[in-house]
Amino acid sequence: MKIGYIRSAWVLGANSDVAVSICKELAKKGCRKFFLISRNNIKIKKIANYLRETYKAEVDEKILDLTDFDNLDNTSFYEVKDFDLYLITAGYLGNNDLAMNNIHEAKKILDSNFVGIVPWINAIISPERIKRKGCLWVFTSVASDRGRPSNYYYGSAKAGLQNFCEGLVARCHGKQFSVRIIKAGYMATKMTIGKVPDFLCIKTSDVAKILLRKPFKNGVEYLPWYWNPIMSLIKIFPNSLISKL
Ligand SMILES: NC(=O)c1ccc[n+]([C@@H]2O[C@H](COP(=O)([O-])OP(=O)(O)OC[C@H]3O[C@@H](n4cnc5c(N)ncnc54)[C@H](OP(=O)(O)O)[C@@H]3O)[C@@H](O)[C@H]2O)c1
Repeated sequence: MKIGYIRSAWVLGANSDVAVSICKELAKKGCRKFFLISRNNIKIKKIANYLRETYKAEVDEKILDLTDFDNLDNTSFYEVKDFDLYLITAGYLGNNDLAMNNIHEAKKILDSNFVGIVPWINAIISPERIKRKGCLWVFTSVASDRGRPSNYYYGSAKAGLQNFCEGLVARCHGKQFSVRIIKAGYMATKMTIGKVPDFLCIKTSDVAKILLRKPFKNGVEYLPWYWNPIMSLIKIFPNSLISKL
């Protein structure tokens, strides 16, 4: 089945394992134009060349680090062209213990997951763009639902992004443009490798297939769905239990 309606995709965090799977699935279904943003100009070549060689796709690349704010006043740096899908998969789990004592690690987690992403979302969600059909998919995390001792720097940054995007969902209500907030549970990627047992992680190829079933879905979505009841339970756990997680 071809997804005729997503012909072009702009990806922030294009070297993430889940973004690679989504780009491959998009290309398989007919997407032929990509704008890939990563902080690594060598790693990004792999997926860019794969899309060019396998699907004859038109692929542009941009290299940037979300913790670098030197270009904040340079509007051409944050310029975003017209794409059907805007996908944000950049994210950094970081080291919670280190962040407690090292402000640079704390700031890196907040900037990579929230503060550094905001200027890009601002550039995407222009009043003109949201009048037309299109979609923004943003990966947040189930970690945003309740602060836990093991990951509250990451979780709070994702919670900021989550809240920001909920505002956008409401702002785009009744418009052609949809905002999809993907609250992911464990996925088998380099972020979880060695930290989470394999059997608890969903494969990124399955994530891609699930998301592309309904590309213009709007609002908050747990992925996979069963994280919704799990998090509903975790949200009401007493602090005595949460303190052990
Ligand atoms: N894996 C999970 O279990 C899980 C669960 C919940 C939510 N999520 C979220 O899902 C999204 C995709 O994650 P993933 O599992 O595919 O992880 P991943 O493979 O580690 O990808 C994360 C991506 O973010 C990029 N990134 C990190 N810090 C950056 C910075 N300062 N500037 C620019 N790019 C930066 C990384 O770039 P480099 O390639 O250059 O390192 C990497 O491509 C992330 O937002 C993550 O927080 C993941």
